[in-house]
Amino acid sequence: MSTTNHTSKALPENIPPNVITLPQTAQLEALYTIIRDKETSRGDFIFYTDRIIRLLVEEGLNHLPVVPRTVETPTGAKYEGVGFEGRICGVSILRAGEAMEAGLREVCRSVRIGKILIQRDEETTLPKLFYSKFPSDIASRYVLLLDPMLATGGSAMKAVEVLQSEGVPEERIIFINLISSPEGLKKFCERFPSLKIITGWIDEGLNEKAYIIPGLGDFGERRYCQ
Ligand code: URA
Repeated sequence: MSTTNHTSKALPENIPPNVITLPQTAQLEALYTIIRDKETSRGDFIFYTDRIIRLLVEEGLNHLPVVPRTVETPTGAKYEGVGFEGRICGVSILRAGEAMEAGLREVCRSVRIGKILIQRDEETTLPKLFYSKFPSDIASRYVLLLDPMLATGGSAMKAVEVLQSEGVPEERIIFINLISSPEGLKKFCERFPSLKIITGWIDEGLNEKAYIIPGLGDFGERRYCQ
C-alpha cells in the first residue's frame, strides 16, 4: 500500500501541449474515487464535485496573464507585485456546466456569467446551438468556459465557435472540465491549438453511447436529479 502523495495512476502519454491537468495527488484521486462511486449520495456528489471544481477554477486563474502592479504596504514600503491584466467572464454549457458557476463565483466576486445551450440536432446528429446569452462586452474579456465532462468534444467545440463568433479570440478562452476522454481532448486540441484546457483527470475512453469510461455516469443526472 502506498502512503505517498501521488496517485497510483499515471497520466496517459502524448497529452497535447495545451492541456493542463491538476496535480495527480492521492488526495485528488480520493475525491475522484468518491464521485465515480455509483453508491455515492447526491449530497456527497455535490460536495465532492464542488471541491474539485474549486481546484480547477483556481488552476484556471493561474493561466491568466498579469501585469506589474506596485502597491504601498502599511509599513510605508513599496511592493512591486502583479495584478490581473484583463477582466474575466464565465460561460457555462447548460445544463451540467451550470454546476461550476458557484465555484467560479466563490473566487471571483461578482464575476459576469454567460450561458450556452447546445443539443444534438435530431436530423443531422450534429451539435446545434439552441440558446446563448453573454455579457455585452464579452469580446474584451478572458472567458472561462465551463463544462464538467469532455466526452466527444462536440458541444465544447460548438461552444468555442459561438464564442469566436461573438469576437472572443481562441487565445482568450480557457476550457475547464473535471474529466476528459483522450479522443475528445485530441479532437478539441487539434481544432483549437491556442486554447488552454484545464482538466482534473484524463480517463480511458468512450463507450458506444459516448459515455466516458470509467467516468462517473451522467454528471447532470447525478448532480440535479438522483
Ligand atoms: N456527459 C456526462 O455527463 N457523462 C459522460 O460520461 C459523458 C458526457
